[in-house]
Amino acid sequence: MKIGIGNDHVAVEYKKQISEYIKEKYGYEVINYGTDSTERFNYPVAGEAVANAVVSGEVDKGIVICGTGVGISLAANKVNGIRCVTCSEPYSALLSRQHNNTNMLAFGARVVGIELAKMIVDAWLSGEYEGGRHQVRIDMLKDIEERQKNR
Ligand code: RB5
Repeated sequence: MKIGIGNDHVAVEYKKQISEYIKEKYGYEVINYGTDSTERFNYPVAGEAVANAVVSGEVDKGIVICGTGVGISLAANKVNGIRCVTCSEPYSALLSRQHNNTNMLAFGARVVGIELAKMIVDAWLSGEYEGGRHQVRIDMLKDIEERQKNR
């Protein structure tokens, strides 16, 4: 399993801690698409880079972190094929995998403490998509993307 991770200048240290946590606990490869500098860095760059890596299959899933998790998730969700959830608690993280088949997770370094973030990551990584009745809605999301391409 390969996880792409991205961040802006607000979340440099936080990103490193989450990367180490995933590598140590799960043995997954974590590929860094974010900045390692605290110089101002615009979150859409990292959000798009991780999202492209997910859609192309370079990585299996993506995790993105900025101050609130909002801006970087908005950038990711602009990429066709991405379903990125912004979470500040584990329940939505788990359900977003089971029902929405999310392929990216976002959270805010200024919002969520690091230990809660690890619980969110655990919930999200352990969640399995349930398919079935949920697939029709995922297909409808894809339909929206197709309609937008033709506008
Ligand atoms: C950067 O100041 C901040 O706007 C960014 O990290 C993020 O919170 C945006 O959504």
